[in-house]
Amino acid sequence: MKDKGRFGQFGGFYVPEVLIPALEEMEEAFYQYYKDDKFVAELNTLYCDYAGRPTPLYYATRFSELVGFKVYIKREDLLHGGAHKVNNCLGQGLLAKYMGKTKLIAETGAGQHGLATSMIGALFGMQTKIFMGAIDVDRQSVNVHKMRLCGAEVISVSGGTRTLKDAINEALRYWTSNISDTFYLFGTVCGPHPYPTIVKHFQTCIGTEARRQCLEKIGRLPDIVTACVGGGSNAIGIFNAFVEDKTVKLIGVEPAGRGIATGKHAAPLSAGRVGILHGTKMYLMQDGDGQILDTESISAGLDYPGVGPEHCLLKDTKRAEYVAVEDEAVLDIFDIFTKCEGILPALESSHSLAWVYSQRNKLPADTVVVVNLSGRGDKDVGIVEKNRPVK
Ligand SMILES: Cc1ncc(COP(=O)(O)O)c(C=O)c1O
Repeated sequence: MKDKGRFGQFGGFYVPEVLIPALEEMEEAFYQYYKDDKFVAELNTLYCDYAGRPTPLYYATRFSELVGFKVYIKREDLLHGGAHKVNNCLGQGLLAKYMGKTKLIAETGAGQHGLATSMIGALFGMQTKIFMGAIDVDRQSVNVHKMRLCGAEVISVSGGTRTLKDAINEALRYWTSNISDTFYLFGTVCGPHPYPTIVKHFQTCIGTEARRQCLEKIGRLPDIVTACVGGGSNAIGIFNAFVEDKTVKLIGVEPAGRGIATGKHAAPLSAGRVGILHGTKMYLMQDGDGQILDTESISAGLDYPGVGPEHCLLKDTKRAEYVAVEDEAVLDIFDIFTKCEGILPALESSHSLAWVYSQRNKLPADTVVVVNLSGRGDKDVGIVEKNRPVK
């Protein structure tokens, strides 16, 4: 098992003994059901009728005029719950049901994964507990309220930096003593094997649809596909379909927070070193002694010191390029994009839009860029208002 789930030197399975049976049971169930006709048919119906797939590929006319090339938006923000997280939650939730589990737990940062898990808990009638850092409970309070409305218990975690890393610590701790009836529904392509593989599988619908939509609408593949990278699930979800298309550039955008040079950021691919956290080997923000550094980002969903192991490999093999964008540019684009298109982008997704904006008038006019709009920005209105009051 220790050699499973490797992406080059990254990934793996670094967990306490007590979790090994639970992860092995999950891996076995995943491979038993992920191609099973009944499971696939049930999941596809839920994707369609519950979540709202397929999501449109929208040509952003005014934003394209502004930047001087063609920008298409993959509208994951239109999904039920307001983000791509529902794709993974439906997949893992259904797996939990097939496995006979009756309880769900999850960690959350921005609250989008917590909300999606709570929705699925209600849908399948499963008792649900969500672990969330105390800072995130405060800054994403609308989502906390929605989770509670769905019937979930939200547990505020006050240890450490009181953000996503600490929520995962607490969820793992809880799971260790409740593995028999509880399924840990992990939110991104990080964590120990089999999570990076399972979460990727349930998010690949984004790229599969986007690739087909490009061929139908534009008659060719895009030149660039870009997505924000927290743990990396929405980015892998769209990149995966284009990885073999060598002409398509893949750009992942990390949070540079207050600036890489200040150390106040959450950009492990841009400024981290290889290390192990939460069961996986990855690029990680750590000091010389291997202590995890505090992270900072205006976007709660990207505020994590590590990143999915497959992204680490895509970086090292240079198949994808990773850049980082500062909070100020994110706040700027939130305003610019909303005024151009009448679409509020999540602060997470605003990172990739900010990178696109930084390329304005630098790319040929016929360049086609696809942006994965991973979520909608309604949850972020309070943060934006605090930083940039509307006059
Ligand atoms: C809207 C949105 N986009 C992106 C992310 C980051 O997660 P990932 O990198 O796994 O897509 C989050 C996390 O909460 C999110 O809410």
